[in-house]
Amino acid sequence: MKGIVLAGGSGSRLYPLTNIVCKQLLPVYDKPMISYPMSILMLMNIKDILIISTPEDTPRIESFFGDGRQLGLNLSYKVQEKPNGIAQAFVLGEEFIGDDSVALILGDNIFYLGNQIDVMRKEANELKDGAMIFGYHVVDPQRFGVIEYDKEFNVISIEEKPAVPKSNYAAVGLYFYDNNVVKYAKGLKPSKRGEYEITDLNVEYLKSGKLKAMPLKRGTAWLDAGTPESLLQSSNFIGMVEQRQGLKIACLEEIAYRRKFINKEQMLEIINSIKDGVDYKKYLMRVVEE
Ligand code: DAU
Repeated sequence: MKGIVLAGGSGSRLYPLTNIVCKQLLPVYDKPMISYPMSILMLMNIKDILIISTPEDTPRIESFFGDGRQLGLNLSYKVQEKPNGIAQAFVLGEEFIGDDSVALILGDNIFYLGNQIDVMRKEANELKDGAMIFGYHVVDPQRFGVIEYDKEFNVISIEEKPAVPKSNYAAVGLYFYDNNVVKYAKGLKPSKRGEYEITDLNVEYLKSGKLKAMPLKRGTAWLDAGTPESLLQSSNFIGMVEQRQGLKIACLEEIAYRRKFINKEQMLEIINSIKDGVDYKKYLMRVVEE
């Protein structure tokens, strides 16, 4: 399975913070926002990743991550000229996806999943046919794509920002698709708000009986960091867990090392490239010495 991080948009809800730095490079506690969605793809064992962003921001993100080799990743980049909708990622990513299945994650979505990540990794690696999305219980479902379930947690319907939501389950910004996704995405028509909607794509899979929607468990966290309030909440949440545990969330070097994308020698190379006395360096050193 390959991965796409969609990291475009204007970041207007975070103006003036986004005047010079794009939203996905703003800090969430101790690292850039985009590290969090990247970490989720890496935890799924996905190494081939396409990052899609705006004409201005793609070079900025590229100068941060480069080609990903130092993390054992194979990163590529693609520009989305205009924010025409989330589902456009699969049209832009057609060549990158090739014959593979693909996971899409939104660049401002932050997940803290505990051991449910292990179940999700298995699903991602085994998905050959159909689509899998994830539902998260929220108080304000009308702001999201809303998933209606039956008693066995089969999907009955999915609607984008309905005025009267049929459930409290929001569709989060993480999606797994088989290779048909490119064909389905190409066949979509723009919605009333003029976007190629990810929900319309999911409806196509639902119509062919191929959409599963795994509910995220109680106790997991899903945040989108796209407003001043949620950016602060995300920083507070990550900071609180990291300070209490002394363990980092979404430390990409640590994940690359623990999941064996890189060996000890490569990890030491990264460590040696960081200035002495820097806390991040000390943390990575501890990981290697464990
Ligand atoms: O956060 C989950 C929700 O994301 C889902 O529940 C909804 O079904 C889905 O439509 C989407 O809703 P939003 O209204 O929150 O999407 P938004 O337009 O804010 O875009 C989400 C992120 O994707 C945002 O950080 C910018 C980026 N984006 C968006 C569009 C439309 C792009 O990079 N390109 C785009 O064309």
